Amino acid sequence: MGVPSVESGFVYVNDVLSCGLRHDAAESRHGEPRAEGRGGYWGGTGATTEHTDGGRGLTAHMVEIEDVHRTYGRGPTAVHALRGVSLTVPRGELVAVRGRSGSGKTTLLNLVGGLDAPDSGRVAVDGTDLASLGEQDVLALRRDRIGYVFQSFALLPVLTAAENVGVPLRLRRTPAAEREERVALLLALVGLSEHAAQRPGELSGGQQQRVAIARALANRPALLLADEPTGQLDAETGHGVMELLRAVVRDEKGPDGEGVTALVATHDESLLDLADRVVELGDGVLREPGRVSSPL
Ligand SMILES: Nc1ncnc2c1ncn2[C@@H]1O[C@H](COP(=O)(O)OP(=O)(O)O)[C@@H](O)[C@H]1O
Ligand SMILES: [Mg+2]
Repeated sequence: MGVPSVESGFVYVNDVLSCGLRHDAAESRHGEPRAEGRGGYWGGTGATTEHTDGGRGLTAHMVEIEDVHRTYGRGPTAVHALRGVSLTVPRGELVAVRGRSGSGKTTLLNLVGGLDAPDSGRVAVDGTDLASLGEQDVLALRRDRIGYVFQSFALLPVLTAAENVGVPLRLRRTPAAEREERVALLLALVGLSEHAAQRPGELSGGQQQRVAIARALANRPALLLADEPTGQLDAETGHGVMELLRAVVRDEKGPDGEGVTALVATHDESLLDLADRVVELGDGVLREPGRVSSPL
């Protein structure tokens, strides 16, 4: 039991679902902190699609990308990173984007995360066209609805594992007792309860990425964006991290029953069997292996 395992993660996922932060989550999803978002991206004025679930007005797709182009620079040195990419990610699925280094994976994830805007085409997250949002609404979307996991972990080196996981909760001024309870559940979820007091430098790469995943889940995001989350890990550790993401997407549910959706960029072939769907980026164009592509 001393070794963090995905099996223990399965058990703990249910703990995370059934207790902790119900109050916080209910408040953040239905109360004051969300009010500003409602007009913007939460069933608000954005360009919602026609595919709704009929009940809560949620669109069927967490992410919709339509004919997106993104070119860096101009003239003869311009790099066409994305050349007409379309992709939909249904709610509750884990979609992997594979492709060699330089194929445009990070560019695509940055567009979905609102860190960058396309030159043309449309990116909708959670039913809202990002182009219809002001800067504050994009920030709110990223803070409240999206969790990020990076190849380089991006943990704060002076903070302990527990403190790193608690950062998003502090930013939302979650009361200390609630924060500690949630942090403990999240560390248990990722199998690191016994390492709560250690700093990133005292943890292995795989452990650090587990801390980063726990942190990404702290605010109960609807969407996880993971950019080569296993890129700095050995194969076995990387597979464990991917299995953890798989478990989270399968089992984690918010208080309103909403699951987590994940878009994961990777060039690691061994991880692809864990995805619900795999798409491949190459030369700025998306292909779906196994599907007959339409003639150009
Ligand atoms: N800020 C930038 N300025 C210029 N070129 C860039 C920039 N970011 C990425 N690129 C180029 O765009 C292409 C796609 O990059 P990227 O999206 O990072 O691919 P990947 O994540 O698959 O490695 C590459 O050719 C890269 O060099
Ligand atoms: Mg990249």
